[in-house]
Amino acid sequence: MELSVNIDHVATVREARKEEFPDPVHVAVEAELGGADGITVHLRGDRRHIKERDLRLLKQIIRTDLNLEMAATSEMASIASDAKPDRVTLVPEAPGEVTTQGGLDLLNLKQDLKLFISNLRNTGLRVGIFIDPNMEQIKEAVRVGAQYVEINTNEYSKTTHVKKESIRIARVAKAARREGLVVHAGHGIDYRNIRSLLYIPEITGYSIGFAIVARALFVGIRQAVNEMVEILKGAR
Ligand code: PXP
Repeated sequence: MELSVNIDHVATVREARKEEFPDPVHVAVEAELGGADGITVHLRGDRRHIKERDLRLLKQIIRTDLNLEMAATSEMASIASDAKPDRVTLVPEAPGEVTTQGGLDLLNLKQDLKLFISNLRNTGLRVGIFIDPNMEQIKEAVRVGAQYVEINTNEYSKTTHVKKESIRIARVAKAARREGLVVHAGHGIDYRNIRSLLYIPEITGYSIGFAIVARALFVGIRQAVNEMVEILKGAR
């Protein structure tokens, strides 16, 4: 079970004061020392937190898997091809949103992602898509050539019907595996709600940011990551 730590929130603190610290690159190294299997950053069109500079330095410095979340735009495709993270996760992006609102709705996209994804894959990147837990989205993700999906757990994280929602995620995860996709999950996952997902063997990776960065205020990033790693080990 792999943990990719999303460090956008560290850059958000830096940008709140337009300072040079806290540096998400330092935090990424600490996260690795805490046992993270990878680092995730979302380079937004408005550059509100992560900047190209962060991406460039992360690529040089971290030793684990670098995941770039980005919108499916030609600007981002060109940045990804130059920066060469290990993988790219396509996400929807709406101006002014506080955080990503829902998965990328592949059924209603105006753009056909097939060519976009094959161009990225040709530059050596692994390409995945952030989708809501829905069978139709899985079929479409396969059709457009994604290698993995990240199932959006935001609704799960907010629900009082935990069992029902986790069963829904488990079904979709199984279907995705059957279709040959690698399955990750993320958004709104914390130290408590992750426990009811750990029985789903098809999910082999989690992308977690806010809960870990918030916990780090009390115990430091290395320990905050390590506490999550220990929980995930229960599922390894
Ligand atoms: N996965 C995706 C696609 C996201 O957009 C985010 C939030 O940036 C996360 C995972 C991590 O969510 P959280 O910060 O709630 O753990």
